[in-house]
Amino acid sequence: MTVSVNELAGSLPANFVLGAATSAYQIEGATKADGRGPSIWDKFLADPTMPHTQATGEIACDHYNLYKQDVALLKELNLHAYRFSIAWPRVFPQGSGKLNIKGLAFYDRLVDELLAQGITPYATLYHWDLPLALQDKFGGWLSRNTCDAFAAYCRKVVNKLGDRVKHWTTFNEPEVIVAGYAGNGLAPGYNKPGIQFHVGHNLMVAHGLATKAIRSAKSDVQVGIVLNYNNIDPVDRSLAAATAAHSRFSAAYNWYLQGLLQGSYPDFVENKLQEPLNGTSHWFKESDRSLISQPLDYLGINYYTRFVVDAEGRDIPSEKEPQTQMGWRIDPFGLARLLERLNREFKLPPLYITENGAALNDSVVDGKIHDRKRTCFIADHLTAIAAVSRLAKVDVRGYFAWSLMDNLEWPLGYAKTFGLVHVDRTNDLKRTVKDSGHFYAQLAQALKSRSS
Ligand code: GCO
Repeated sequence: MTVSVNELAGSLPANFVLGAATSAYQIEGATKADGRGPSIWDKFLADPTMPHTQATGEIACDHYNLYKQDVALLKELNLHAYRFSIAWPRVFPQGSGKLNIKGLAFYDRLVDELLAQGITPYATLYHWDLPLALQDKFGGWLSRNTCDAFAAYCRKVVNKLGDRVKHWTTFNEPEVIVAGYAGNGLAPGYNKPGIQFHVGHNLMVAHGLATKAIRSAKSDVQVGIVLNYNNIDPVDRSLAAATAAHSRFSAAYNWYLQGLLQGSYPDFVENKLQEPLNGTSHWFKESDRSLISQPLDYLGINYYTRFVVDAEGRDIPSEKEPQTQMGWRIDPFGLARLLERLNREFKLPPLYITENGAALNDSVVDGKIHDRKRTCFIADHLTAIAAVSRLAKVDVRGYFAWSLMDNLEWPLGYAKTFGLVHVDRTNDLKRTVKDSGHFYAQLAQALKSRSS
């Protein structure tokens, strides 16, 4: 890292929003409190036959009870905005039907607290915690019944909170949601390889229905979606490796964006959707084209790393490049490369980087966490954003660090620590701001001073 806080603040676009992100299941805990219903993740992580599972979200960071303290942390970090998700099973314990007023009231309190501290809420309606009842009853995202239930849930939540929350994200990372159906490493662990396009298309349909429902509930809100993107690079200069890298990028990531912006998919996806699945032969209806491509007010991009593939499209692990606890290569300039590419290929709405961060082995020394590597990681990615905004005129409006605090990294448990704030699991979940958090607070302050 070579830039100073002021230099960095000065290089970012005007009115740049700096925030931190979390998701409900990863931090809230209190999975049985106040009438919350079970989600597919409660079941998945409690199932000893599923791979890798080490911990559950039963306690997590106990944010459900400690939310005031956590909002105070956001304030201490001078953050402009907070990206969090709403747990559908708290609001509708069965996915649809009877509303759980107490569950919705939690988010009402959270939003009021954020606004009282001057922090802008950015709410995500689905960060993977599907009500288990919908999985059991309809097969979850294999069914359009779930899409309808999602739209009804979104309408209800926006009716309640839309007077105060103006940024609404429908889905976080469809590509990863789909992975829980095509494989068994994530909930619900359905494990039917080859069904990713069918499930993914249903998510796009649900996004379209939800977008319409949100806009009809409140006309002055912004609606967007968050897609995860990493670069996929060929291992060498052969045509075969370049082709494999390109195909994987299209099949994993890019087809969602084409669907959202153009109402069409690449041929390999449209052909796949003609194949019957689960007794349904018409997965794709012509009327879906306009439904899935409702205008987007913004697009969120989650970026972490780059993958390298050989001629067969197989992952080549990193040998020499710096990497995180996740084994992910650290490639800040890759973010500029990615944004420049997307901006060239599509007519993009305004962008936010809705997640970016590093899981690192943090050690506590005299009550402090000297995580210089994380500070550099964040500063270098922000520098890449500043560069691409200036040089390629990509419209990036803000950046949300993943994550506000160390939390449940899904099946990998609590050992992968991404937070700006350390959470001591051996000492009452005590929160301590890491050095990276202090740096981030200075940057947020410098950005505020610049725009005032
Ligand atoms: C994701 C999710 C987060 C993760 C984070 C680190 O991108 O996978 O949105 O819930 O925890 O990305 O893997």
